[in-house]
Amino acid sequence: MLKSIQENYPDIDIKLLKLSEMNFEFCKGCYVCVKKGEDRCPVKDERDLIIREMMEADGLILASPVYSHMVSATLKNFFDRFGFYAHRPQFFEKFAMPIATCSGYGGEYAIEYMEKMLSVFGFNIIPSLELQFRPGKMPEKNKILNLEKTIKAVNTLIERIEKGEKDKPQMGMMVPFHIFKYVSAIDKDVMSADYEYYKDKEDYYYEASIPFVKKFLAKKVANKIIAGFD
Ligand SMILES: Cc1cc2nc3c(=O)[nH]c(=O)nc-3n(C[C@H](O)[C@H](O)[C@H](O)COP(=O)(O)O)c2cc1C
Repeated sequence: MLKSIQENYPDIDIKLLKLSEMNFEFCKGCYVCVKKGEDRCPVKDERDLIIREMMEADGLILASPVYSHMVSATLKNFFDRFGFYAHRPQFFEKFAMPIATCSGYGGEYAIEYMEKMLSVFGFNIIPSLELQFRPGKMPEKNKILNLEKTIKAVNTLIERIEKGEKDKPQMGMMVPFHIFKYVSAIDKDVMSADYEYYKDKEDYYYEASIPFVKKFLAKKVANKIIAGFD
């Protein structure tokens, strides 16, 4: 399906990165990227090439087959390796669309997970695409239907990129903002990368006009969670 997107949009520069065919190793779980910075990751592979492509692109289509009601282990590893973006989101100017392919049911969990993680990384999320692929030989009409659904979704992605309409700050991002900022300040030495990222930020990841009540509520919820830490 990703190849067919490339074929149907010849005027758009679409780069296809297949993680399973790249030199992209599993996360070691050392947490150094979160604590000290992503440049300190001990795994030396093609991670930075993926970062470069994501930084340069206007949009990201992230696709995974559904394995056991979840994304593939390869894609889960993508989110683990880029876990530092959950602490220090960078993609507020970018748009992302998840695709999950399945042969039955359980795709909604994979989609929900991808949407959550991409929005935590800062991406503006385009409605996701869940495609059914019947095992064995797919009837022609199902193939056409999948392609039509895909084209419609990609058109929405392109439209959003062209309009540049970004999501407004949501509570689901405002609350973690305050928690991460607080935690990084109480343990500056351990969480030095987060501390540097948050120290000059006030209410949100970037300058945004947020209604007072929303700001107040986000801080209140965050403080309640923080109170449980001590
Ligand atoms: C290990 C494994 C687990 C799977 N689990 C699910 C599942 O939970 N739900 C589902 O609808 N399809 C499941 N499938 C089917 C795949 O989602 C389907 O084969 C895939 O999306 C089709 O893409 P492909 O042609 O790249 O394999 C599973 C397939 C494998 C290999």
